[in-house]
Amino acid sequence: MQTLHTVAEMQAEADRARCAGRRLALVPTMGALHEGHLALVREARQRVGPEGHVTVSVFVNPTQFAPGEDYERYPRTLDADRAALAELVSEDGAGGADAVFAPSAEEMYPFGLPPLTTVRVAEMGRYLCGASRPGHFEGVTSVVTKLFLACRPDVAVFGQKDAQQLAILRRMTRELGFGIEIVGHPIVREKDGLALSSRNRYLSPEERRQAVVLSRALFAAGHAAGQGERSADALRQLMREQIALAPLAEVDYVEVVDADSLAPVETLEKEGPSGGRYLAALAVRFGGTRLIDNTTLRVA
Ligand code: PAJ
Repeated sequence: MQTLHTVAEMQAEADRARCAGRRLALVPTMGALHEGHLALVREARQRVGPEGHVTVSVFVNPTQFAPGEDYERYPRTLDADRAALAELVSEDGAGGADAVFAPSAEEMYPFGLPPLTTVRVAEMGRYLCGASRPGHFEGVTSVVTKLFLACRPDVAVFGQKDAQQLAILRRMTRELGFGIEIVGHPIVREKDGLALSSRNRYLSPEERRQAVVLSRALFAAGHAAGQGERSADALRQLMREQIALAPLAEVDYVEVVDADSLAPVETLEKEGPSGGRYLAALAVRFGGTRLIDNTTLRVA
């Protein structure tokens, strides 16, 4: 497994693999890899097969952090990340990555910050997390475009954990005609339900204990929707009640939206624009740590 630091090296590696007839997969990450990320790498390997080529990018992208967010303190653990990926290979013959793409900020933004050229998916970037993180999704779509151009993969794997990000990237990929298959992987959770996240390490033991309300709120909404609750407001209220059980939790948003467009809805309908698929999504702060989670609601 090699580590590539420049876009030119990445492009040369991808060209070599493509010329050799290998299918390419890309797993974009910001590093501090945990089991959720590793599940995406396994999924990528499955998609391209043992003969395929899997790249994991590790880049803490400055343009998706707003001033005052955790860009500076975001964990940077490239050696441990490389070790975790290498272990994946030894555990399971065809399980790991072929390359780690770990460019510097100067390499990705050669003209400095902010870049003049960006990619923005209008509307979808303003809902949910977009409201409290202005510019965040423009940073994500722009950097993912650059990663796509550096690697030009056949398949790119993202987590359903960041459902809004996934929906926006799907839309961008189709609208710009990248010709890349976007795969969404289910959320990997701790035993008590908390979704794995690189930011969980910021939580104090008491915050960590209370953070279980996020997944409980979503499971409650999923259960109620399964029992026939069709009012989005009733589901939002139910989730808020669950979160209120944690005194340290401060709600950023609790939403029920259309699964594809991410637009807020009033009633869940089988004949909705996304074929009866909705997303219950929330963002909650514990002290300085903002956690997100979501679940898909299906109206059958
Ligand atoms: P990062 O937060 O490192 O996440 C990288 C990928 O891992 C994302 O697709 C995310 O959805 C997925 N992921 C994180 N936790 C997960 C979990 N518990 N279960 C399943 N998947 C999980 O998302 C980013 O980085 C960045 O925005 C990026 C796309 C790399 C652009 O900079």
